[in-house]
Order: sequence, then C-alpha cells, then structure tokens
Amino acid sequence: MKRIGVLTSGGDAPGMNAAIRAVVRTGLSRGWEVMGIRNGYAGLFKDTMAPMGARAVGGIIQQGGTILGSSRCPEFKTQEGRQQALRVLEKHGIEALVVIGGNGSQAGAHALSQMGFPVVGVASTIDNDLYGSEITIGVDTALDVALIAIDQLKVTASSHHRAFIVEVMGRDCGYLALMTGIAGGAEYIVIPEFETDAEDVADTIRKAYKRGKAHAIIVVAEGAKYNAQGLCQYFSEHHERVGFDLRITTLGHVQRGGTPGAFDRLLATRLGAAATEYLAQGKFGVLAGLNKGQITATPLVKVVATKKPLDLSLLKLSELLNL
Ligand code: ADP
Ligand code: F6P
Repeated sequence: MKRIGVLTSGGDAPGMNAAIRAVVRTGLSRGWEVMGIRNGYAGLFKDTMAPMGARAVGGIIQQGGTILGSSRCPEFKTQEGRQQALRVLEKHGIEALVVIGGNGSQAGAHALSQMGFPVVGVASTIDNDLYGSEITIGVDTALDVALIAIDQLKVTASSHHRAFIVEVMGRDCGYLALMTGIAGGAEYIVIPEFETDAEDVADTIRKAYKRGKAHAIIVVAEGAKYNAQGLCQYFSEHHERVGFDLRITTLGHVQRGGTPGAFDRLLATRLGAAATEYLAQGKFGVLAGLNKGQITATPLVKVVATKKPLDLSLLKLSELLNL
C-alpha cells in the first residue's frame, strides 16, 4: 500500500480532528501517503483533496468540528455516484479509504466496500446510534455540552418556578436524551424508543410542583413522537395540569460544536490508529469501534444491518430518581 485517503462525513462530531490526526500520522509512519479528502463524499465528486503531512494535523487534537469539512452527499447513495467516486480514487492512486462518520457514512463505506474497494470505518457521531461501537466519537462531549445547558437552565428555572422542556439531538435515537436526562437529574425523559403519553408527563410534572419542587426539567429527544413543540402545544392547552409556568429550549447544533474532552480525544486517537492497523493487515470492510473497553473490528455488513439497542432499564431508573 502506497497511498490512502481519509474523509469525515455526515454530522460533524467533537473528536473527528483527533481521529484525522491519528490516521494521518500512523499512516505516515507506515510509509504511506495520506490524502485528505474535503467535505466528505462530496470531495470525491468534486475532486477536492490534498496530501497531508504530519504538520497538516498539528494543533488540531483539541479542536471541535473537522478540518477536512463534512457534508451530506446524496449522489453517493447511487451506484453511478459511487462509480464516479471510484474513478476519482483511482485517478489519484488511492488504494484504500478511511471513513470517519456515523450511520449513513458507514452505509456509504459499506456500499463502496461491496464494490471491491478497501475501506475501514471509524465510528463517529454524537447520536450514538451506530452498531459496532458501544460509544462513538463525539458523544461524551455532546453530553457535557447538554449538561452545561441543563445546569444553567435549572438556575433560572428555580428562580421563576418554571418547568423547561429541553430538546436534544439524536435523530431517531434516544441515547443522548436518555443520558442527558439521567445525568442532568431530569424529572421526565421522552425518547423515540418508548411511547410516551403526554398526559403522563403532565401528571408527573404537576406532582413535582405539588411536592414543592422549585423547577422541573423535561428532556425530549428530537426524534420522539412528542418533540418539544408537540409537548408544549399539548401543555398550553392543558396548563392547569402542569402547574409550572413552561418554557422551551432547543439545544440543537451547539451539542455538535463542543471542544472534545479527554474521552473523545482518546477514543478518536485509538480508533484512527486502529483504522490504519486494519488496513495494513488487509482487514477491509470493517468498522473500528470500542466494545467492552477493547478496540474492535466489526464487519460493515453487520453494522449496517443491525440496530443498536438502547438500555431501557435506564429510563425506569430515571423514574425512580425523580422523587
Ligand atoms: P451520518 O454519517 O452522520 O449518519 P448521514 O446519514 O447524513 O450522516 O450520511 C452521510 C452521507 O453518507 C450521506 O450524505 C451520503 O453521502 C452517505 N450515505 C448515507 N446513506 C447511504 C447509503 N445507504 N448508501 C450510500 N451512501 C450513503
Ligand atoms: O447526526 C448528527 C445530527 O446532529 C443529528 O443529531 C441531527 O438530527 C442531525 O445531525 C442534524 O443534521 P444537520 O446538521 O444536517 O441539520
């Protein structure tokens, strides 16, 4: 192997830069050239890429986002699109690719691998919805960002005896909401994986009000049937059932823009290094992830076909704790 490519794709995640750095520097130390492909799969179409030396990844381990840029690239979902991408890879003499990204990006990596191109994925998304890694790059930092917001919201909520509905990201997955809710001491957590009755939320919040709580926090996953707007609409029609005055905060993309913490930097570094190790071993079509404390290679075919389970016993635990 003489030359590999690396790209970051889909939603950016804090720690992607540490993963790029690890891929580049471990690749260089194996004697390979490493091409940095810009803006995810779009860079393969637009032919925007450049060789990366050790200095190109200096001083980035602590930066959020991705220095390579990212994108959603619909063309890559078609066979013709991927064929064009393969032509660009061939033109540059790129013999293997490292794809740093989430669910969709790894589906793309798998599709490329099915066409015979050597690919290794690196598990990176704040949603933590990717099978093959118990925790993905960016989750830990995104949780910390959400908790800073919740802690601050509690301060003002207490002053005004308010309840806050806090909507967190996660696409169709409730992991971020569940963990934010537990770590943030929420009174109620609403996630897509468990059907929530808005009346039950109202009842829980009203009881908290009557017990003399100064505030209440309801953490809602953006993908839940009742998202923040939906719940608020319901409560505005049944205000007397809630007790507290109500406000909404949607955290949105701030959760993606944090400065990667120690956990994400270490995870990203280990996974990036594992990716080049797998390429060197000829172990293609796999996802580098973290399972039971070990770095593992899970076949992409399994990754794309399997839904990552969410531990719903934690939802029960949160109910026990919100006395
Ligand atoms: P993430 O990787 O964060 O889940 P997306 O779901 O937006 O983000 O996927 C990122 C990109 O991966 C898409 O824009 C597309 O280029 C590619 N992709 C997604 N799904 C597929 C698929 N089924 N087949 C091929 N490429 C895909
Ligand atoms: O996959 C990461 C994520 O932040 C999801 O949590 C969210 O649903 C989505 O990306 C938002 O996408 P965009 O950045 O395109 O608005």
